[in-house]
Amino acid sequence: MAKIETVKGFADHLPEEAARFAFMETEARRVFALYGYREIHVPVLEYTELFARSIGVETDVVRKEMFTFPDRKERSLTLRPEATAGIMRAYVEHGLYTREAVSRLFTFGPMFRYERPQKGRMRQFHQVNCECLGLEEPAADAEIILMLMRYLEALGITEAVLELNTLGCKACRPAYREALKAFLRSRPMDMWCEDCRRRLETNPLRVLDCKNAVCREQSAGAPEIVTLACPDCRGHFAALRGLLDGLGQRYKLNPRLVRGLDYYTRTTFEVVSGAVGAQSSIAGGGRYDGLTAALGGPDAPGIGFACGLERLAMLLPGKNAASPDFYIAVLEDQAMAPALALAQRLRGQGCSGLCASRPSGLKGQLRAASRHEAAYALILGGAELDKGVVMVKDMRNGEQKEAGLEGFSLE
Ligand code: HAM
Repeated sequence: MAKIETVKGFADHLPEEAARFAFMETEARRVFALYGYREIHVPVLEYTELFARSIGVETDVVRKEMFTFPDRKERSLTLRPEATAGIMRAYVEHGLYTREAVSRLFTFGPMFRYERPQKGRMRQFHQVNCECLGLEEPAADAEIILMLMRYLEALGITEAVLELNTLGCKACRPAYREALKAFLRSRPMDMWCEDCRRRLETNPLRVLDCKNAVCREQSAGAPEIVTLACPDCRGHFAALRGLLDGLGQRYKLNPRLVRGLDYYTRTTFEVVSGAVGAQSSIAGGGRYDGLTAALGGPDAPGIGFACGLERLAMLLPGKNAASPDFYIAVLEDQAMAPALALAQRLRGQGCSGLCASRPSGLKGQLRAASRHEAAYALILGGAELDKGVVMVKDMRNGEQKEAGLEGFSLE
């Protein structure tokens, strides 16, 4: 019979990969709690309008990358392509702002984008996502960036580069867009790729982000928003840079960093690593003042980021699968029940381990213990039972000694 496989761009996480994800989640919970962040869960399915209104109808994500379908009553639903929009909806829907002046929230989970799958780019991928709502000061930007870098460090990722830019605000971006459009239109029109020819009119900032070599050459020398932004935005950015410099946080200015989602204002940042192939962005984020108002809520300032867990997983040093504390080798039938009882007792004491499920030769079972990377092999047969002992083999140095079976513990 023909086999059924995973949907293109979707992947299973077999135990080793799942252990990496569990490790990244555990560290996220630990690190983010140090900064006062609390966990929130929002659904993977939302009304399509939420994403159209927040991410922007002209973005690639909304135009061509969403998994959108009607429900049985013909309402348009979408599998979330990112978490920020859903968290903002929840923030507004439940009036979180009436309960606290500042909300610091994080979440994990699968996101869905109908992109062309390649190394580091999936149609179902996972993010850890943080949002800080209610603060507009540059200190809030500095702190969330520090938290992101601390998280990456906790995972052992220290080689990645932080890139920084500002996108201006509602007041100064329109004039910048026009200046940019005028510049882009002054270049030979037939040289732009098809996407850029459209973006040039609808979303000119995205032209700066095009990966096509000819388009990049064409847009070289384009006006930079850092220089054209209003005094308030320039002041905000300068203050953020001053804080990061003072804190010793290194970054690279990237005037082409425009991000793929339209809700961004002012600070934007990405963390890139050459080690994950062409899809080098392992985290991205920025400020989105005005987003909650666009969703019918109060005008709360906000800043956040998300890390792509599949991409972080590629950078995790070593393996993180936990190895068991013990492996019980059973030599004869009569030792089976006492072996299970011993395993049960040790697990009750918080030790992890495996027990052979039938008696067999010692050599093979020691091989199994070492394959599982157990710290100790515990050997139990008729002779040991007669003497009331268990043979304990330290798998790291090979030392072996007898210990009393009754009351035995691994301490
Ligand atoms: P984003 O840059 O679209 O931002 O995605 C954040 C991260 O998710 C990327 O840096 C990348 O590591 C990962 N990622 C994105 N698409 C894929 C994919 N197809 N396959 C694998 N990994 C992927 C956002 O999603 C914003 N919501 C971040 C944010 C939160 N901004 C403010 N708050």
